[in-house]
Amino acid sequence: MQETQVMLTGRPVISATGLFTPPESITNEELVASFNAYVDRHNAAHPEAEPLAYSSVEFIEKASGIKARHVMSKAPILDPDTMCPRLPERPNDELSVMAEIGVAAARQALERAGRKPEDVDAVLCAASNMQRAYPAMAIEIQQALGIEGFGFDMNVACSSATFGIQTAADYVRAGNAKSVLVVSPEITSGHLNWRDRDSHFIFGDVATAVLVEDAAIAPAQHWDILGTRLKTVFSNNIRNNFGFLNRAAPEGEGTPDKLFVQEGRKVFKEVVPMVAQMILEEADRLGIDPAALRRLWLHQANAGMNRLISHKVLGHEASEDESPTVLDTYGNTSSAGSIIAFHQHSDDLALGDTGLICSFGAGYSAGTVFVRKVA
Ligand code: COA
Repeated sequence: MQETQVMLTGRPVISATGLFTPPESITNEELVASFNAYVDRHNAAHPEAEPLAYSSVEFIEKASGIKARHVMSKAPILDPDTMCPRLPERPNDELSVMAEIGVAAARQALERAGRKPEDVDAVLCAASNMQRAYPAMAIEIQQALGIEGFGFDMNVACSSATFGIQTAADYVRAGNAKSVLVVSPEITSGHLNWRDRDSHFIFGDVATAVLVEDAAIAPAQHWDILGTRLKTVFSNNIRNNFGFLNRAAPEGEGTPDKLFVQEGRKVFKEVVPMVAQMILEEADRLGIDPAALRRLWLHQANAGMNRLISHKVLGHEASEDESPTVLDTYGNTSSAGSIIAFHQHSDDLALGDTGLICSFGAGYSAGTVFVRKVA
């Protein structure tokens, strides 16, 4: 058999990141007051049914570490008669809301890298939910920014951004692109069941962007990508059955499984060891001492999960400086969480410092991106 040799031409780095944070935020106190008002109304209206139980601020903070979350549409979520965001449909010739927040994050990344849109080759929209089936969100974002080349959407739930970074890095390594934008607009409030006591506190809305480029064109200050690794293992413990075939089974339309549902305990127990082992194996492969990692920018779903994972990786309890938390004010922002942590907590690192961006979630899916600061 004839051997084909692939010439690797580029060396991928992270040139810059961008962040869009919705101005409105919901505290646990506001969320629980609205949820409990819904419970009172529901129980009064259905005296024959098993009564619904109250939610509690103390439980939410203790079980998850979340204190507040940003959202795109606060008042309707808190209205016990609605309990859902309201984002009115826009005409087709107007930028869609998901593209709009993606563009805002992307513009910041481009600005921080000193990069003009015409110098970008590709846009990946990597997120847990797409607003529509087609045309791809990535192509709308590409058009709005004035980028030539190509774009496409990819969904690997909470790991979408790290899967996007590896995909972008592979384009650069193979010489297919020199500059790739990975945009993660996460309007998770649209898939959250705000009437479900077990999960109504989990998610928040945000958009992030990561500019992955060939070192040859990157700005002097950037992050070398030392290695990327992806993993998926099928699990039904985090699931959402929403999809284009729902209308072909009208008996199931509008049931709770068409929104985010999870077995939180099982997720916690199964994902923590899987991710810790993956990080240690990848560090070993790259010849990196995990105990010497300067910072871990972990997926932001649960403070307890991050405590356990960082302890296993570093060999001691991580300080806030070693494993920063953003879920306290952002909630779980799905694929964007580890990127927000990196965006907000990386400027202070010194030349040569090594860190890890790591995501994990539905699928199950997990991704690691080891990086080293340059300049
Ligand atoms: N308010 C008050 N009590 C609540 C509650 C709420 N909102 N929700 C659940 N409870 C109660 C339960 O009824 C249960 O009561 P019981 O002990 O009397 O049966 C108790 O609190 C514990 O519930 P449990 O669901 O086991 O809580 P937990 O400690 O596992 O925490 C999560 C729940 C979701 C915060 C946690 O499991 C988690 O974060 N898991 C990982 C999730 C994750 O990463 N998902 C990825 C998404 S992409």
